[in-house]
Amino acid sequence: MKTFNAIGVVGAGTMGAGIAQLIAASGVRTILYDVSDDVLAVAQERMRQSIEKGVERKKLPADAWATLEAQLTMTSNFDQLGQASDLIIEAIPEDMALKCRLFERLDALCPLETVFASNTSSLSVTAMAAATKRPERVAGMHFFNPVAQMKLVEIIQGKSTSQEVMVQLSDFAVKLGKVPVRAKDTPGFIVNRVARSFYGEAFRLLDEGVADVATVDTIMRSEGGFPMGPFELMDLIGIDVNYAVTQSVYNAYFQEARFKPHPRQRQMVEAGHLGRKTGKGFYDYD
Ligand code: 3HC
Repeated sequence: MKTFNAIGVVGAGTMGAGIAQLIAASGVRTILYDVSDDVLAVAQERMRQSIEKGVERKKLPADAWATLEAQLTMTSNFDQLGQASDLIIEAIPEDMALKCRLFERLDALCPLETVFASNTSSLSVTAMAAATKRPERVAGMHFFNPVAQMKLVEIIQGKSTSQEVMVQLSDFAVKLGKVPVRAKDTPGFIVNRVARSFYGEAFRLLDEGVADVATVDTIMRSEGGFPMGPFELMDLIGIDVNYAVTQSVYNAYFQEARFKPHPRQRQMVEAGHLGRKTGKGFYDYD
């Protein structure tokens, strides 16, 4: 079965940069594309810090940065993605119209054998696949934040995704040191579906004045055994990203009340309080 040796990653935000870092540091040729050179520069610095930490923790070999540099090309020239002939993973914002437009462009650029994967958190992989002439070669490959540390990768089978592509992507995830789990193409897949109530109930606790942000997080961590409480996790993921996922799952389930977004999420997005990445969310990071 075909293995992936030339990979493209589209979008150099937190997830795209993390995915490109993981793949390039594992010794696989990677092209990371973003429309913005500034975003690419920030991504490079973030990758450097993460690799340093991985080496310090002895999770990565001492020459991991050299390997990454040798394998990674960062570019704002879309056409260079045509060289990533085995697999392209998109990690652009959670906007279906944007993703479909991207896949249409990639479809025109890349050979028909190239597999396309979306790192979408919750959107329909089937709908994205329908924007291409290769729906059997389009799947979801959903990583978790922080990519370097989180083991799980959801491999999502769209309505037309072939078994062969599912196996190829699962094998590739294992090669990257991750644990793949296959899921059907349903809104939020497994993790983001279950996690809706983790965040939703936390907002309700706040509304009812049961406990404040820090208390909820502390209890969930120290007594609940979770690595992070709901509010600090939202700050890590990004309030905007989490809000987009909530909206997407809510709408995909025809506005089912249990998935309803919370007005606080919208307000924080409007204020630009997006969590760690902007220095302010439920907590202050200055
Ligand atoms: N490269 C490789 N390994 C690394 C690394 C790197 N750059 N940096 C750290 N590691 C390793 C560490 O050595 C450690 O390994 P060990 O457990 O075998 O010793 C492990 O990764 C954890 O590293 P840290 O000690 O730095 O991490 P903490 O113990 O402080 O935990 C955390 C940090 C991993 C973020 C933890 O708090 C956690 O798991 N939080 C929850 C995160 C979560 O739930 N993410 C999912 C969000 S949902 C999402 O992303 C979906 C999207 O669609 C919205």
